[in-house]
Amino acid sequence: MKTVSFVSKKGGVAKTTSAIHYAYWLSLQKLAVTLIDDDNNRTASNWAERAQGNDKFTVPFRIASFRSMSKAVDGADYVVIDSQASRTDDDLKDFAEDCDLVVIPTKPDINSARSAVETADAINRHGGEYRILIADVPGYNTTGKELAEDLAKDGYLVLKKTIRRSEGINHASLAGSTLMQLAGGYKLPWRDYEAAFVEMAGVIN
Ligand SMILES: Nc1ncnc2c1ncn2[C@@H]1O[C@H](COP(=O)(O)OP(=O)(O)OP(=O)(O)O)[C@@H](O)[C@H]1O
Ligand SMILES: [Mg+2]
Repeated sequence: MKTVSFVSKKGGVAKTTSAIHYAYWLSLQKLAVTLIDDDNNRTASNWAERAQGNDKFTVPFRIASFRSMSKAVDGADYVVIDSQASRTDDDLKDFAEDCDLVVIPTKPDINSARSAVETADAINRHGGEYRILIADVPGYNTTGKELAEDLAKDGYLVLKKTIRRSEGINHASLAGSTLMQLAGGYKLPWRDYEAAFVEMAGVIN
């Protein structure tokens, strides 16, 4: 069983969006996946409830709260943890020690990036494997690329593929679906996620 968490000290940096898309991507490969909603706001669980509330989309993986984790991971090939923001250093230590990979999403602004770096430092200090994922990058904007280069120059491990900004994320969130399942022109950001997940697989396996 592999465990991958999406963690950052900062809120609103695409942790839940990325965790849901990753769980979905793994499920497409016929893997048994449990997504742990480790956030009191229950964003991932609410997303799944929206999916269950319509007859268009199905959720091909289990979703469980952190409290019911021990039962919910039974038989899972992958456990994906969607963490809440503002974790303590003790929490980050647990993630570092218990996960095969900690993914640290960040948006391409300085405050998010600063939190990503602090989170990466903590995971690194506790001997964990991490990668920073730059998400919600506006089109034709070089900020995402520059941030990736700056972080790499400072010795941080960054996934090469960044995730472009897409209105589809909000449509998907409202419908309880993923970019992959939406009709319309949302295949490019989905491909971004696919490429980033392939890079992650290279780290995990
Ligand atoms: N690629 C993207 N394009 C457009 N909007 C995005 C993208 N990625 C994330 N967002 C938006 O950014 C916001 C925050 O995303 P998300 O809820 O995934 O972050 P989070 O880190 O889980 O937040 P929290 O800390 O509150 O749990 C959401 O409104 C989401 O729709
Ligand atoms: Mg979230």
